[in-house]
Amino acid sequence: MEKIRIRSEGALRLNGRVKISGSKNAVLPAIAAALLTREKVRLRNVPLVKDVHTILTLMKGLGADSSLRRNTLTLEAEKFASTEASYELVRAMRASILVLGPMLARSGKAVVALPGGCAIGTRPIDLHMNGLQKMGARLTLEHGYITAEASKLRGADITFEKKTVGGTENIVMAACLARGETVLRNCAREPEVESLCRLLVKMGGRIEGVGEDVMRVRGVDELGGAAHDIIPDRIEAGTFLVAGALNQGSIDLVDADPAHLSTVIERLRFSGTRVEVKKDRIRVAGGGSILPQDITTSPYPGFPTDMQAQFMVLLTQAAGTSIITETIFERRFSHVNELLRLGANIEVLGDKAIVRGRTPLSAAEVMATDLRASASLILAGLVAKGETVINDVEHLDRGYENIEDKLRGLGADIKRISA
Ligand code: EPZ
Repeated sequence: MEKIRIRSEGALRLNGRVKISGSKNAVLPAIAAALLTREKVRLRNVPLVKDVHTILTLMKGLGADSSLRRNTLTLEAEKFASTEASYELVRAMRASILVLGPMLARSGKAVVALPGGCAIGTRPIDLHMNGLQKMGARLTLEHGYITAEASKLRGADITFEKKTVGGTENIVMAACLARGETVLRNCAREPEVESLCRLLVKMGGRIEGVGEDVMRVRGVDELGGAAHDIIPDRIEAGTFLVAGALNQGSIDLVDADPAHLSTVIERLRFSGTRVEVKKDRIRVAGGGSILPQDITTSPYPGFPTDMQAQFMVLLTQAAGTSIITETIFERRFSHVNELLRLGANIEVLGDKAIVRGRTPLSAAEVMATDLRASASLILAGLVAKGETVINDVEHLDRGYENIEDKLRGLGADIKRISA
């Protein structure tokens, strides 16, 4: 079991530049999209994170060839060796469910393990399944596996009962090869969804309303190959912005896209953080006292649920009380118990966390429970006086590329240690 050890005097002094990697949540659906064509798909700016290796293992099992050279990935799914996504892989990464739509649309069959829940919630996929059923798929659930079959999917008019990133991605990919027109209503508008649709259009998909609530897809018989740049990871960027807000110095985020972070930047400026936005870089500096504020997570372009744990750390240092309301996932406060071990003053009441500041944090040994909780513990460790040790950093490696090297490059006393 690997751990991360952070030493801090309590105040944080980071200075310099950090390059933001490609987005985990953009590259995973883009990789799944390669199943829609027999031709080559080339993805640049791919983050070297654990989830990418997991989905490439899944793709290999399905018969797709892949080659990764530095951060450029070439995929080719000429034919399927299997149409099954195993429980072992789906359990390791829920996003494996994203192969369901493309595999069914291309081959007429898909067998995917029903993803279990995870630390942040039950994570159902009923909206994915309802959409595919409306497109004519026959779905059966047996022994924990979903079998989906359809000789040819047909266009349908589909309204998502709630905003779902993965559901929108699965259905828009399936619709590209369906017969006729599919209308998708109440679509998720996250930048990762929009980027996937831009890739699908490059592959020959006929999609109107990319990035909008309503998308119209006219199915085609075949899709072709394409080359595509993975967008910067807005959650990694947001995580470094919070580090900057906790910081006495000033750091520059390079290759970040400020347009994907407008709500987070607005909230940081409200807290008193100085944020200077340029085209593909963001300068952030903390230093003064931090104002408390109430945060409610909501679908894009609202405040991202994936930034909730990180922002909570900033609010522990605010001069007053803040209330965080988590509306997307039902169990996304597992980082609170660990922050309490570091001396934070937080009370959870249902979907709300009441954060009382300012509470100086003191170092302790803590446990990472999920990807973004891990990031919040790193941020807390950077301002907790003493030596903080974070266990179970495997969670972190799923979605952050060398985060400790990047932080050390800015001046943090942080290193990975083996148990
Ligand atoms: C994506 O998960 C992201 N993962 C998550 O990031 C992110 O937190 C989430 O979107 C919300 O923005 C990837 O893109 C790989 P949803 P996804 O479908 O698609 C409910 C991270 O840390 N729902 O938008 O699984 C669901 O329970 C991860 O990088 C249904 O009820 O999320 C949740 O309450 C964590 N039925 C809400 O919708 C369904 O069929 C939003 O889920 C599907 C979802």
